Amino acid sequence: PLKCCLTGCWLNDLGSKMWIGNVEADGSFSGEYQTAVSSTEKPIKLARLNGSQNKASTEQPTFGFTVNWDSFSDSTTVFTGQCFMDEDKQESLQTMWLLREKAEFATDNWKATTVGTNVFTRVK
Ligand code: BTN
Repeated sequence: PLKCCLTGCWLNDLGSKMWIGNVEADGSFSGEYQTAVSSTEKPIKLARLNGSQNKASTEQPTFGFTVNWDSFSDSTTVFTGQCFMDEDKQESLQTMWLLREKAEFATDNWKATTVGTNVFTRVK
């Protein structure tokens, strides 16, 4: 398969957009995330993301990144996934995420983490 590249603009199945900058020689990258949805009542703002791509396979690499929502929320999300290139040369990011919300008390810890999946397609 052709190389699938993380750098660029992506849109997911919830309507969230993200922009990923250059992937550095060590695999690290950063970018920005505009979520379409939120578990908070606060107005949504742009959030920073920081991640790492596995450099062992450059064709359809695995990766992970953290979105820090501190511009409007006290939650944190981690995403992990893989960049795929299909037969029509369309790239997609198949991901899973864990969203950690702030629990007021340790006794509320059990309900503070949610899990889900997102598929991102490249915005051209
Ligand atoms: C929050 O609700 O506290 C911050 C925003 C969380 C948005 C989540 S992260 C996982 C899922 N995928 C998205 O694109 N948005 C939601």
